[in-house]
Amino acid sequence: MIEIKNVQKSFGSKVVLNGISANMETGKCNLIIGASGSGKTVLTKCMVGLIKPDEGEILFDQQNMTTMAPEQRKELRQQLGMLFQGSALFDSMTVAQNVMFPLDMFSNASLRDKRKKAIEVLDRVQLRDAQHKYPAEISGGMKKRVGIARAIVLNPKYLFCDEPNSGLDPQTSLLIDKLIKEITTEYNITTVVITHDMNSVMEIGDNIIYLYNGVKEWEGSNKDIIYSKNELLNKFIFASDFLQDAKEMRMLDDGKKSKTDLS
Ligand SMILES: Nc1ncnc2c1ncn2[C@@H]1O[C@H](COP(=O)(O)OP(=O)(O)OP(=O)(O)O)[C@@H](O)[C@H]1O
Ligand SMILES: [Mg+2]
Repeated sequence: MIEIKNVQKSFGSKVVLNGISANMETGKCNLIIGASGSGKTVLTKCMVGLIKPDEGEILFDQQNMTTMAPEQRKELRQQLGMLFQGSALFDSMTVAQNVMFPLDMFSNASLRDKRKKAIEVLDRVQLRDAQHKYPAEISGGMKKRVGIARAIVLNPKYLFCDEPNSGLDPQTSLLIDKLIKEITTEYNITTVVITHDMNSVMEIGDNIIYLYNGVKEWEGSNKDIIYSKNELLNKFIFASDFLQDAKEMRMLDDGKKSKTDLS
């Protein structure tokens, strides 16, 4: 579990995180949602140690990252897997080389063992056959899967995904969501996903944190979110992909057309 305790961060006079407390649960997909500029990325950067909070604490399974010694922090960093926005693969490396990269950086295993591990995770994301291809030769969805394979190759305890669905069609997005969810459960990872995608929220949102102007405005599960009476949250949700559902509801209210007439 990652415990965020009263985290505050300002840039100049602008308060970006205003006393955030939240728990990211183990074996669950913990989603951070909120409008552009609400502080999602800054909060995530605080968690992975790229930004130091002005105040507050972040604990990884009781280990306080904010106060730990540099060597300890280095060790902790190796337990964090990251799936960056846009996949961020190295264009000059093959799929297998990309996946092996963290092993080359952090592991003393033999080349044979590193290859074996890379193939194992590529298998997990169903990309063994693409191992010799270059990023330019594969689709956006495949790139994300390579990014996921690379993020889990060091068996992380914590996985961070920054908008894993950006630029993907709804069906491919769903596959990526399901993969993230499966991996989270299978390896009992504490997974944090920043998303704008309301389909993802409903599909994998075990624990959802809604940020509004640097404040945690709402927290709950995908089951709770539908019944939430929080006005800011509802405005946020209905302003996005939920339009379709809103449309359906209106149609049903009107009682004129059945759902199946919608196209
Ligand atoms: N390094 C920085 N220096 C100054 N201001 C920053 C810095 N990083 C972020 N900010 C500001 O902090 C606020 C929150 O930014 P953040 O990137 O966390 O938003 P976000 O919720 O991730 O938005 P988006 O959905 O657009 O990615 C913004 O007003 C942004 O301008
Ligand atoms: Mg962001």
